[in-house]
Amino acid sequence: ATDVRAVEDGTPPEVIAHRGASAHAPENTLAAVDKAAALGAVWVENDVQRTKDGALVVLHDDSLRRTTDVEEVFPGRAPWKVKDFTAAEISRLDAGSWFGASYAGARVPTLRQYLHRVDLHHQKLLLELKNPELYPGIEGQTLKLLSNEGWFDRRHENRLVVQSFGVAALRTVHELKPGVRTGLLGKPAVADLPAYADFADQINPSYTALSAAYVSAVHAFTGPHGRPLEVSAWTVNTAEAARRVAGYGVDGIITNEPGVVRDALAG
Ligand code: G3P
Ligand code: CA
Repeated sequence: ATDVRAVEDGTPPEVIAHRGASAHAPENTLAAVDKAAALGAVWVENDVQRTKDGALVVLHDDSLRRTTDVEEVFPGRAPWKVKDFTAAEISRLDAGSWFGASYAGARVPTLRQYLHRVDLHHQKLLLELKNPELYPGIEGQTLKLLSNEGWFDRRHENRLVVQSFGVAALRTVHELKPGVRTGLLGKPAVADLPAYADFADQINPSYTALSAAYVSAVHAFTGPHGRPLEVSAWTVNTAEAARRVAGYGVDGIITNEPGVVRDALAG
């Protein structure tokens, strides 16, 4: 498969496993990456944050409470923010039992561990900088880790997009590493797209308020790498919604159910 979908050429959208195959395995764990691979997802999406002692870890919420047993292990540490725990403390937590007993003992992965697992499956990564305003300098730190792990080598060409709701963070990523593809989360007004097209290759909105007209409007702009801006929509979990959104002409579909979406697009 090509890495960049030729806009409006009839190629089906890329299927991107949201927090891994998160309908089937605990979100943002290595098990969710494995499950995405088993379901044939070429792309996985994750959420990157930072610990108290400066380690990059993969977790969606700014608190550890919902997806780990942190309340039991560290009862006096409410509200259990990622930024208030060390990497060693977080490595003790169970990030799987909340989802199902068969996942007991799953861990919150470090970004390094996560990159290795994605690599193992030869997958591609839509990496979200989550809450970047909480973690000054996380843009450069993440790029440095990616570089150290070989993600800017030829072997990894076209296998990475960095996305964020944070406009400033995304602009910083582009300035620090202009070759990296980036995605701005949200649905900005069409009038604002020229400014975003200076540093964002993708505009990635919720599918709920999306339309064919908006997707076409985005495609009409040229991104920082000289190609039309792309659109990946989230979080699309049914066959019916996947077919509808594909009909809008999106380039990517971000889903907890990569198997369902893949089958819907094929059928
Ligand atoms: O990839 C898009 C989606 O992940 C953005 O929302 O809250 O699931 O990170 P959220
Ligand atoms: Ca995300």
